[in-house]
Amino acid sequence: MERTIEFVLNGETKKVTVNDNQTLLEVLREKLDLTGTKKGCNQGECGACTVLLDGKPINSCLTLAVRIEGRSIMTIEGVAGKESLDPVQETFNEKGAIQCGFCTPGMVLTTKALLAENSNPTSAEIKEAISGNICRCSGYIKIIEAIQSLAEEQEVM
Ligand code: FES
Ligand code: FES
Repeated sequence: MERTIEFVLNGETKKVTVNDNQTLLEVLREKLDLTGTKKGCNQGECGACTVLLDGKPINSCLTLAVRIEGRSIMTIEGVAGKESLDPVQETFNEKGAIQCGFCTPGMVLTTKALLAENSNPTSAEIKEAISGNICRCSGYIKIIEAIQSLAEEQEVM
């Protein structure tokens, strides 16, 4: 069955008609052309499809679109400002934490949620936070260094 849902997407109210069985990932990529959210395993294992639901990371491949009625979603398209990248994106670039980039949208969103909740995470807390985001290229070291550097910058500010 089809129904129209209303939710906030990257700060703007959206109305979209979805099928009961459509995932949020499908709606973002196929209906709304927001292809920054990646489709990897499509079964909750890789984190490539991570978006923020009311500020918390979720796997959009496991979330039915109808469940987001009245909620707020942030995708990677909503992260950068009009003129510049978000500091998380800048730092990932600078620290060499991006290789093929497939995991990057999910990693960036997971990092934003982590730092919003915990401005000074330990290395163990960083590893735990990104444990649901698989990166096949980087070996994680540069990603962890980038997140540590962001936490240090936040402390200075
Ligand atoms: S595509 Fe959703 S967790 Fe892999
Ligand atoms: S940079 Fe390639 S999967 Fe992470």
